[in-house]
Amino acid sequence: MTENITTYNITTFGCQMNEHDSETISGMLQQRGYIQVPDRDDCDIAIINTCSVRENADKRFFGTLGQLKKIKVKNPDFIACVCGCMMQQEHIIEAVKRKYPWVDIIFGTHNIHEFPDMLDQLYESRKKEAVPEGSEIRDRRAYNIAKHDVRSAKNTRVVRVYDDKKEIIEGLPAKRLYRHKSFVNIMYGCNNFCTYCIVPYTRGREKSRRPEDIINEVRNLVQDDVREVTLLGQNVNSYKGESGGAGIWDFTDLIYALNDIEGLERIRFMTSHPKDLSDKLIRAFGECDKLCHYIHLPVQSGSSNVLRRMNRRYTREQYLELVRKLRDTVPDIAISTDIIVGFPGETEEEFEDTLSLAEEVRYDSAFTFLYSVRKGTPAAEYEDQIPETVKHERFGRLVDVMNRCSREKNAAYVGRIEKVLIEGYSKKDEGILSGRTDTFKLVDFPGDPALIGQIKNIRITESNTFSLKGELEE
Ligand code: SAH
Ligand code: SF4
Ligand code: F3S
Repeated sequence: MTENITTYNITTFGCQMNEHDSETISGMLQQRGYIQVPDRDDCDIAIINTCSVRENADKRFFGTLGQLKKIKVKNPDFIACVCGCMMQQEHIIEAVKRKYPWVDIIFGTHNIHEFPDMLDQLYESRKKEAVPEGSEIRDRRAYNIAKHDVRSAKNTRVVRVYDDKKEIIEGLPAKRLYRHKSFVNIMYGCNNFCTYCIVPYTRGREKSRRPEDIINEVRNLVQDDVREVTLLGQNVNSYKGESGGAGIWDFTDLIYALNDIEGLERIRFMTSHPKDLSDKLIRAFGECDKLCHYIHLPVQSGSSNVLRRMNRRYTREQYLELVRKLRDTVPDIAISTDIIVGFPGETEEEFEDTLSLAEEVRYDSAFTFLYSVRKGTPAAEYEDQIPETVKHERFGRLVDVMNRCSREKNAAYVGRIEKVLIEGYSKKDEGILSGRTDTFKLVDFPGDPALIGQIKNIRITESNTFSLKGELEE
């Protein structure tokens, strides 16, 4: 706590959507003159931005709530806020209200813009119930919270969670995590309802931003030293933006327009749903010089049968055909993916289809997940759930294949000269610079910090499973 200055700390779980939402929350608080601090234990306002995509994420959140209690006991004026995807689920909000009385503010993914107003509401109601410093009641409040006594904790609480009826709110500030690259949301929500996935329930229906709003945002970012943008959406390929003068734009129309922005160097996007990846977009890879040679194309399973039960709406063959077309157009394109192991009913044979697909595609990198039951999704009700031991055994076999492919792919970079956008210091070593190739490979190399933000030629000298090392090429 700092005298007269309000401090805050944000903990973010989950995907880039959440990271970007946290940037917005941070931007709004800074606009009020609040200061972000790295230590959650010593701040005035803590915000936990939650993810619900797998059970692990839920567990981590409940662990964090316990830590917030300790802060509250020391400082009853402390404000504990929880938001994000978990808060869009009734059963979780109920659990938080019932078991965690020290939580002051709960808001959903559609209410982020209202957070400053919610803080004001909390301040107001606290003023009304304020008790003098050191008074017995004040101590009791802290004591009750520590004892989990919900009935007498008397903690004022502000809760606002919409169920997705509102329009997109434009013009919110954002405090970026990185100076030279930025996420840009182009759409919100998801309409796909893959049978395992909670996201359509936590993020609502698909809504696309207007192309003019996106283009203006990117222009402003470029003015502010951003060199690379990553366009975000659960399924960017189904973007449909209503332009003021030019009807409906699809995703590729947007890419072509952004490619013309002077000063912007790189365009990335995620995530692409294979069912909506158009030939027009594949052509854009060949025609737009700023569109990076990298695509994250989640396959989820190599078995057409499992894909059908997942409601993915493509087959193994259709997916492989997309990969072939992408590589025909952009021979050096890097491809990464997401795969779920142990989806209900997955047989050994169907799992082997996933292994063989992985061998065939030879991914640059992959995120592999154990299937996790999500309450409220269709697959949670499927009867033939796979035992944990089987899931883990399959997971291990898949990770071995994936890591071998990544190692081989990275090894092929040794000796090449790659254009690297220098993003900052290496996470492992403060004295080393770090950046990404066009194909999204992480490269560490020694160099002058003044180079941060520039694109430089780096000669790749060494490769690992997940990263490369190199030297500046003069
Ligand atoms: N919209 C993106 C993915 C968002 S969730 C897409 O469709 O590609 C990120 C990844 O989490 C998914 O691709 C999937 O592999 C994984 N995932 C989602 N729900 C899951 C569950 N119930 N169990 C395990 N993994 C899951
Ligand atoms: Fe989830 Fe499927 Fe939507 Fe991705 S496309 S967010 S996996 S429902
Ligand atoms: Fe998690 Fe929500 Fe993203 S559930 S993965 S933070 S959209």
